[in-house]
Order: sequence, then C-alpha cells, then structure tokens
Amino acid sequence: MREIPVEWTARVLRPCPVLLLSSRHERRSNLAPLTRYALLSQAPTLIGFSLAPSSMSCHLVRQSGECILCVPDVSLLSEVHDAGIVSGRDCDKLRRLRLLLRGSRCVAPFVPVGALASLECEVRESRLVGGDRHFVVQVVSAEVDDEAFGEEWRPESAAWFHHLGGDRYLCRGEVLRAQPVVIEADLPLDDER
Ligand SMILES: Cc1cc2nc3c(=O)[nH]c(=O)nc-3n(C[C@H](O)[C@H](O)[C@H](O)COP(=O)(O)O)c2cc1C
Repeated sequence: MREIPVEWTARVLRPCPVLLLSSRHERRSNLAPLTRYALLSQAPTLIGFSLAPSSMSCHLVRQSGECILCVPDVSLLSEVHDAGIVSGRDCDKLRRLRLLLRGSRCVAPFVPVGALASLECEVRESRLVGGDRHFVVQVVSAEVDDEAFGEEWRPESAAWFHHLGGDRYLCRGEVLRAQPVVIEADLPLDDER
C-alpha cells in the first residue's frame, strides 16, 4: 500500500464502490459494508455517511470518534456481504470472517488485507436525520494499492464492486452473487477484540 494525499479522496470515491467500514472502540472491533455515503468537501476532505443507530458500527464510531473506510477487492465480496447481514452485536465478525488484518497509520481500527484503498477518518459531526445517524468524518490519512491505483484507479487492475440489491453485486460489468461464508462453529462474542 502507498500513501496518497488526502485530497485525492475524490478520485478514490468517484466510482462510488461498496465500502467496508472498519470500527474499533477499546477491545471491540467490527466491519460492515457501507453504501450510503458521499464526498461532502474537498478541503478539508469530508465524507458524509449514514448508519442505522441500532447497528454496532454506529455505536463504535460514535464512542471512538474514528473509523476507516476501505474499498474492498472483489476477492472479499462474500465476506463483505456477510458483514452486512449479521451484526457485530450478535457475533465477533472479525473472528467469523477470518480476514487477515493489519494496523493503520493514524487511527485504531484495522484494515483488512485485500483492501484496494483505505481512508482513515476522524468524526467531526454526527446527528440523527430521519431514522439514521449521519456522520461527517474528515479523512486524515489515505492509502491505495499500488497496482490498482496510480494517480487514478487503473480499471484493468482494480476490481471494486457495486451493490445491486440482495446478494447481487456488479463487478466489471459482470453480475456476481455473494456466496455463504463458511463458518467453523458458532463463534460467541469475544470481548478481547
Ligand atoms: C452491500 C450493503 C451495504 C450496506 N450499506 C449500509 C449503509 O450504508 N448504512 C447502514 O446503516 N447499513 C448498511 N447496510 C446494512 C448493514 O451492514 C447491516 O445492518 C449490518 O448488519 C450492520 O452490522 P453492525 O451491527 O455490525 O454494524 C448495508 C448492507 C449491505 C449488504
């Protein structure tokens, strides 16, 4: 991964790919897909996104005041989908999905290995709008995969994807279905993470 100027966030988000939100507060970490987001300001670099207030991600982002927005590669599609149909309130998703994780530069949450880009963010504002909690976060550090991104995405190497609904996704013009994630056993909540 290579660090890029945070002002390049617009280039990272331009295709509007499905994102994976990584959050962490004290010993709890979580992952959830995110599609309700938008770039709100270039400088400072602000992103807005909305989360169901009942979700574990909402709780962790509010408590910690930070998060990471990752662009997952299509190789993670089934894991990303699974993270969107189970809640971190009911299981430890990091253990359930058995993803390789690495630390980040400026904030506490983990980055899944296989992310094509990661935007490390600090919360600047949050409020309830309608039924959702809206967050405004500032990107404080940004990284991209060298092969997938030069000064822009390289579409021949970058395989991000879009959500069509249900378990259907679109990647490079091809419709893909998320596959069930193989789970070894019922993994209980682990407060050590
Ligand atoms: C592709 C996809 C995108 C999603 N985008 C959002 C979103 O933008 N905001 C949201 O609140 N929930 C979204 N969801 C639903 C949450 O991921 C889901 O409620 C999840 O169980 C929340 O997990 P958590 O409680 O561990 O945070 C999405 C689900 C999928 C499958």
